[in-house]
Amino acid sequence: MQKRETWATRIGLVFAAAGNAIGLGNLLRFPSKVALYGGGAFIIPYFISFFLLGIPLMILEWTIGRYAGSKGHGSMIGIMGEFFNHSYLARIIGSLGVAIPFLIVCYYIYIESWTLGFAFLSLFQKLPLPTQTGDPQLMMMPFLKFYKSYTQPSFWAVLFLIITLVINWYILNRGIIRGIEITAKIGIPALLLMGVFLSFVSLSINDWKGLEGLCFIFKPDFSRLLDPQVWVEASGQIFFTLSLAMGAIATYASYVKKNEDVLKTGLYTAGLNEFVEIVIGASIAIPAAFAMFGASSIPELAKEGTFRIGFMSMPAILMALPFGSYLSFIWFFLLFIAALTSSLALSQPLVALFEDELKFPRSKAVNVSMIMISIGAFFSAFVPDFLDELDFWAGTLFLIVFGFIEILAFVWIFGVENFYRELTRDVFFKIPKTMVYIFYGASSIFIGVLFYFWTTVKLPEYLGQISWNLIISRGFIITSLLILILIAIESKKYINS
Ligand code: PHE
Repeated sequence: MQKRETWATRIGLVFAAAGNAIGLGNLLRFPSKVALYGGGAFIIPYFISFFLLGIPLMILEWTIGRYAGSKGHGSMIGIMGEFFNHSYLARIIGSLGVAIPFLIVCYYIYIESWTLGFAFLSLFQKLPLPTQTGDPQLMMMPFLKFYKSYTQPSFWAVLFLIITLVINWYILNRGIIRGIEITAKIGIPALLLMGVFLSFVSLSINDWKGLEGLCFIFKPDFSRLLDPQVWVEASGQIFFTLSLAMGAIATYASYVKKNEDVLKTGLYTAGLNEFVEIVIGASIAIPAAFAMFGASSIPELAKEGTFRIGFMSMPAILMALPFGSYLSFIWFFLLFIAALTSSLALSQPLVALFEDELKFPRSKAVNVSMIMISIGAFFSAFVPDFLDELDFWAGTLFLIVFGFIEILAFVWIFGVENFYRELTRDVFFKIPKTMVYIFYGASSIFIGVLFYFWTTVKLPEYLGQISWNLIISRGFIITSLLILILIAIESKKYINS
């Protein structure tokens, strides 16, 4: 067995893990979900999900990843296999855990390319000055030149997509230590600095009217707690923001040293992510919009989704301030760094699959992965509804399904006794075994209920629609899954070779 790389330093590992989790989900997705689903009241199901799903799954993925990594496996196909005698069934089920990050990165990386493009447009003052009417609708006009719509990119937009793909390609090709770890070591401190700075700017707009905006989004509307949709959204946000139930954390965990403290690393990852989500994420976009356009604009802006606030209102707001184009650059560059460290994490499971299971040398593994990702990214750029469709399946439903599978497989089927032994090896605090029963028991029930809501409330409404674009998108999803299943089956013969 060839030796796998491990993270070079502890701090590098923590930054890489934070880079994995901290992403567009923290800075764009979270604030608009809070605004849409009950303000402060959303925080209640959010935190319940954090404790019942986020923490248990985070620790679980670090634990299984460390174990499988020491045996030479880093993708979910290999990890599932390693735990269950490399049976075909385990490897096939594991392919869902490689399909999810792959499908997500196909659209995530396209959005990442917008952030890079907009950062440059801001810096070179190519974003025309906003109108002074204060009408958020008009504020979006300048950007229509760059993207007629999300799926009608201009020449420049395509160029930025290619540049973004090349950057990811280059970093992945340098490997774990010289690529991902270095990027995170530079990127995460920079991200924290830029984030704190922009929070300060946003909150202080119009004589600290932004601060009122922050209070506004956390004003609880408790009546929303009875709505199952709010619970589904809150838990979906937890999966997405913590990068859970898709194998991405487990893949990073497979590169830790044999005796790394997985409990500590898991808690650091979750803690840093929550800091950036709740403190920084909540303090920028919505408070700024509140201070500029007033309270009444918020629900309307949030309803249009995250992109509207992030890509249209934000630069317009920032450019109305002194040194506006630089502020706007910092905003988009912040988003870009957050997105880059996440897209690397979303791509690595595929790279690990080719390296560990098919024994490809690294650059071949990276090349094949990046070709697949580039194809997906171009689908996102040119096929209408592709992005939303992938986000619906891979970015939400599959996460609930795979999270459920993970708890079932690694805790209950693998056995609490075995799981507990692996979990408490080399950790700073030996949690009592009853806690494993309580926590994972509660998460199993919780996720089961969510699954039920999901399939009865949201799914039927979605399946009813049909169009050519949806057929292409769903065809893409099914084909990807089939290819990965084939690899899972075929690669079994390389085990122990
Ligand atoms: N957690 C990232 C975010 O908040 C998204 C992500 C998911 C990254 C899965 C890696 C793996 O944007």
